[in-house]
Amino acid sequence: MAKKSLRIGLIGYGFMGRAHSNAYAKVGNFFDSEYQLVRQAVCARDEEKARQFASRWGYASVETDWRKLIARDDIDVIDIAVPNNLHAEMAIAAAKAGKMILCEKPLAMNSKEAEKMVAAVEKAKVPNMVWYNYRRCPAVVLAKQLIDEGRLGKIFHYRANFLQDWTISADLPQGGAALWRLDVKAAGSGVTGDLLAHCIDTALWLNGGIKDVNAMTETFIKQRKHQLTGKVEKVGIDDACAFLCHFNNGSLGLFESTRYARGHKALYTFEINGEHASIKWDLHDLHRLQWFDHKDEGKLRGWRSIHVSDGDHPYTGKWWVPGLQLGSEHSFVHQVVEFLQGLESGKPALPNFRDGLATDYVVDAVLKSAKGHRWEKVKQVKG
Ligand SMILES: NC(=O)c1ccc[n+]([C@@H]2O[C@H](COP(=O)([O-])OP(=O)(O)OC[C@H]3O[C@@H](n4cnc5c(N)ncnc54)[C@H](O)[C@@H]3O)[C@@H](O)[C@H]2O)c1
Repeated sequence: MAKKSLRIGLIGYGFMGRAHSNAYAKVGNFFDSEYQLVRQAVCARDEEKARQFASRWGYASVETDWRKLIARDDIDVIDIAVPNNLHAEMAIAAAKAGKMILCEKPLAMNSKEAEKMVAAVEKAKVPNMVWYNYRRCPAVVLAKQLIDEGRLGKIFHYRANFLQDWTISADLPQGGAALWRLDVKAAGSGVTGDLLAHCIDTALWLNGGIKDVNAMTETFIKQRKHQLTGKVEKVGIDDACAFLCHFNNGSLGLFESTRYARGHKALYTFEINGEHASIKWDLHDLHRLQWFDHKDEGKLRGWRSIHVSDGDHPYTGKWWVPGLQLGSEHSFVHQVVEFLQGLESGKPALPNFRDGLATDYVVDAVLKSAKGHRWEKVKQVKG
């Protein structure tokens, strides 16, 4: 049977533009689908660089104005891989044009914007997804399966960290290419919306909704030169954040993120403790899941390190042979697989814009709590 074409229009050719393009290129070689992905157009403001990117990554054409890309009849899916301050405007325009949307995380600068994005995609009834790709690491999916099978029993604790060390130098400027994450006007927030958003999304998926939060944030370097204006300007982002929370299921949460943890590049870890068993996962060793089961025979009881690469582990049977591990890039391929399966089954792929909004509600509550030095209730997504 001839496959249905799904023509992608990608906006942004940075880190994520490459990660997504790699996923589009590979998915059809490893996973079966009714759909054939077509890398139809890439949009970026610099035409020459866009052409170079198109040639390297196999895009058929280029645009320099994202509005023109969205207006094109030969594009089915708009992929938003640009800084956070552009997500809402692009996604709402794409929804109005009837395009399917794959949007990078965090969904928006704040939950007010995210609410408008959810309303737009739901009004237009267009398939939508947010690239919280850590949900699609095989070991994280295995964790989800073990929790859903009830093997942990009642959950007491959820702990997550996301630690980096790349902004310690006071000489690092803020704003502009590659450094937009340090500019609050482009990023919305610092580590809370950038790194903790990943931890929050995974936590909401694995352990359910968060009821309330108590947070502290710190901006260690108060002023930095802005790359675009050349002036020394106030830093508006949070460099570090830690928060406590209650989950709706009664468990307690503890989250921490910083870009000032010397020695750590992208140490995303989580640990979940239940009445029967515990789970640990670590992005630096992302193909392993640590598992402790109290039901094991006493003298053999201990932490098991499961190499999540066997044929019956999530996604892995479609790749090479048992024992060969997958990496970060594969989580993006799996995210595309979920999207395609969602189109085939009619059951929306997750995480969708509503899930992105749920994370933005937590992010907003965390920032508000840190500012006000008090517990804040988290708004819950309806429906
Ligand atoms: N899922 C993940 O693990 C993950 C990882 C990194 C970044 N992100 C998210 O992806 C998004 C992009 O981050 P990145 O690391 O790829 O950034 P990046 O700086 O590497 O790339 C951003 C791209 O956007 C382009 N751009 C900026 N303004 C534009 C405009 N008006 N029109 C067209 N293109 C424009 C830039 O030229 C650049 O190509 C952000 O929302 C970020 O939070 C997600």
